Amino acid sequence: MTDFRIGVGSADISDRALEYVTQVLKSKRLSYGPFLKKFEAGFAKIHGSSFGLTANSGTDALRVAVSALKELNNWKDGDEVLVPAVTFIASSNVVIQNNLVPVFVDVDPKTYNMDPAKIEERITGKTRAIMPVHLFGQPCDMTSIMKISKKHGLKVIEDSCETMFVSHRGKPVGSFGDFGCFSTYVAHLLVTGVGGVITCSDKDLALTARSLLNHGRDSIYISIDDDDNVSKEQLSLIMERRFNFVRIGYSSRLTELEGALGLSQLEMKDEIIKKRQKNAEYLTGGLSKFGDRIQLPYTLPGNEHSYMLFPIVITDKNIDRHNLTFFLEKNGIETRFMFPLLSQPVYVKLFGDLEGQYPVAKWINSNGFYIGCHQALTKQDLDYIVLKFTEFFNSNPK
Ligand SMILES: Cc1ncc(COP(=O)(O)O)c(C=O)c1O
Repeated sequence: MTDFRIGVGSADISDRALEYVTQVLKSKRLSYGPFLKKFEAGFAKIHGSSFGLTANSGTDALRVAVSALKELNNWKDGDEVLVPAVTFIASSNVVIQNNLVPVFVDVDPKTYNMDPAKIEERITGKTRAIMPVHLFGQPCDMTSIMKISKKHGLKVIEDSCETMFVSHRGKPVGSFGDFGCFSTYVAHLLVTGVGGVITCSDKDLALTARSLLNHGRDSIYISIDDDDNVSKEQLSLIMERRFNFVRIGYSSRLTELEGALGLSQLEMKDEIIKKRQKNAEYLTGGLSKFGDRIQLPYTLPGNEHSYMLFPIVITDKNIDRHNLTFFLEKNGIETRFMFPLLSQPVYVKLFGDLEGQYPVAKWINSNGFYIGCHQALTKQDLDYIVLKFTEFFNSNPK
């Protein structure tokens, strides 16, 4: 093993981040305030949405989005939500946590995102929503998915925890569905430590989600600023209802410290995305000579790709995934398997052995892995990655 490490993510703390965090600490205002408000408004605007709401995590953003739709549309326990058969487990966990049932849809073998051609065969009388997941930094085929959702009257929750700042056919992720949900956890495109953001453009949905994120509080009073500069009548109304809870909510708030980190990176988003796209292009160029042995990332026409990660699926039957990923890890290149979901012990216990019904997910589960593509990687790092793949394939000829 080596001390040298090319990680799957990075946490850039810029001078601007230090300045903003210092401002927060000096202000002694940690609860929801100006930094979070600015971050939410900026994030929503970039993602073509009227409202941005910060949450404690991407998972909480999703859990609250599903919960708000369930409440406002009178979904029953046991109703179904369509989720891709390849995703991080949080996508389907939030469905279960809302007493709903995740029904899996196989994914596209090139993009690894939910395959629109496989959606309708999974729709039943109990289906209420589709949760497309924009995996690895690439939007799903939202044109087809929105067409199907309209045809069947289904709600759409975009799990965009791995994709930010990019568009499908000119329309930003997070602006297609009823809700978009993003994660700012470590190794994501924008990192605040923990954190999530919900985007939406419907006022009722936004108010319900904001309340759910804040213990189910009456939306008249969410932040300590909400009683500043209001009329006498409004102030007495707020005082009446300030401690009113109108639904069973969650405690899912960020502090101004995360707001400061988020805002500092939002202002650098173009640099972040450009660098990741350049890195992906360079890696693809360097590794394309192995195109008959590994499948490299593919971008659907009409999509922009933000390359949160660099997914690879081994196509050479003679290459064992463990041997290749172990060789890379031994040489300091971090790898992760591509989101095994249906084979998770807890899901096998809950749903039985489903993998046979999802051949593409099964193929990815056996042969897929990803490496980092983040903005802190240098040309030297990228050349080193290509060199290590070359060494491996040279010592394991076809
Ligand atoms: C596709 C997807 N959904 C949801 C989440 C959950 O986000 P968080 O870790 O912020 O709860 C992640 C996190 O990595 C993710 O990749």
